[in-house]
Amino acid sequence: MSNAEIGLIGLGTMGAALALNIADNGFDIAVWNRTTATTHQFHKDAGDLAARITPTDDLEGLVAAIKEPRAIILMVPAGQAVDDQIKALRPLLGEDDMIIDAGNANFHDTNRRAQDAGDLPFLGIGVSGGEEGARFGPSVMGGGKRAHWDRVAHIMTAISAKHNDEPCATWMGEEGAGHFVKAVHNGIEYADMQMIAEIYGIMRDGLLMDTAAISDTFATWDKGPLRSYLIEISGKVAGATDPKTGKPMLDVIVDAAGQKGTGRWTVIEAQHLAAPIPAIEAAVVARNLSSQRDARAAGEALFGPAPHRFAHDMMPLATLEEALIAGKILCYAQGFGMIEKASKEFGWALPLPAIAEVWREGCIIRSEMLDDMATALREDPDRNLMTAPYFADILKKTHGALRQVVAHAALHGLPLPALSSGLAYFDAMRTARGTANMIQGQRDFFGAHGFERVDGGSGHHGPWGS
Ligand code: 6PG
Repeated sequence: MSNAEIGLIGLGTMGAALALNIADNGFDIAVWNRTTATTHQFHKDAGDLAARITPTDDLEGLVAAIKEPRAIILMVPAGQAVDDQIKALRPLLGEDDMIIDAGNANFHDTNRRAQDAGDLPFLGIGVSGGEEGARFGPSVMGGGKRAHWDRVAHIMTAISAKHNDEPCATWMGEEGAGHFVKAVHNGIEYADMQMIAEIYGIMRDGLLMDTAAISDTFATWDKGPLRSYLIEISGKVAGATDPKTGKPMLDVIVDAAGQKGTGRWTVIEAQHLAAPIPAIEAAVVARNLSSQRDARAAGEALFGPAPHRFAHDMMPLATLEEALIAGKILCYAQGFGMIEKASKEFGWALPLPAIAEVWREGCIIRSEMLDDMATALREDPDRNLMTAPYFADILKKTHGALRQVVAHAALHGLPLPALSSGLAYFDAMRTARGTANMIQGQRDFFGAHGFERVDGGSGHHGPWGS
């Protein structure tokens, strides 16, 4: 019977949660998973929602169960699996039927798939919020032809998170625009998480605070300007106890961070775009470095541990909070700057204020500050966020704390890659006369590359040979 409003392929953690969310919002949905037993188990476990869900055993059955023109969401692992699924599905579909890739795709793949689809409806949408977000309201970043997005916008807005009743689901632009915005979201996510981890390191190793005190500190900060999902969960992570040993959970977790690759995609793309996102780059590097456990242990054996402990009362917690506020603003300024650059480069007209708006709820980087960022970007989407009056005022009050934290950490051997590169970015961006004149001199000296003179004209050469 063809009566489902939409179909979904891939009942992994995210796919299953998204399917339940769709059913929960009153839409009939047909589902299919490569393993048939998974499909039926999912249907059995769906409780009251089972009535809205049609489990199907093969792709033909899935297609037959959906109303025309069809829309089918793919929730399969990024990469070849998406291409394989499209290849298997497309021949079964009519020319008005739409495929929606809602996984974490590399936006270059989405661009290619959109081009391959030609006039056949295809969307690439970024979905953020982890399992809970997918189930109860994610942030949705749509990409593809506007007319195709409009066909499913009522479903996307219904299932998305809401901020003051406004849905966190927006069309970002053509082709891979939605997946691009999701990638930058993840880059910011990496930097935000890394900066929090760095501050945790100061509390743990510099101030010798126990995990309970660290947890309380994050919980307190979650009531102030840093209020955000990531600060909230950091407090909970720090406060958790390992049921096996009774030790703090953080003490039994290995200090090597995993990554599926979205942060790396962002950094690679930033280099292609010449978009400066040093805090995000530092966060990706820090994850790579964290996995070199043996090398780090050998380094400690060779050079000895650094004198981490700060002198008593040297660093008030309020200073750490201010440093994190400054770091966070600088990291978001970099992320939005990259989006602006890509928007021009790819001819997308990415809606910066709307991007800040869809990130206000549902996604991993959701935070109080994003509402103010949306306001600042609405006033002027073209300026660097750090120069928007509201954020410039905060930075004027907090960059001293960031400087103090970075300086003390350096003196005590505590690595703060993301916070220190955030500070270097701030200082570079407020230095009218930098030092690249020396680089231009060097380039001209060894390669006769020419330089611009401060008193006018380009293509000048220095008197190096004489
Ligand atoms: C989200 C998250 C999500 C991410 C995973 C793991 O917005 O819901 O960003 O998409 O893929 O949390 O990411 P890493 O393995 O790269 O840390």
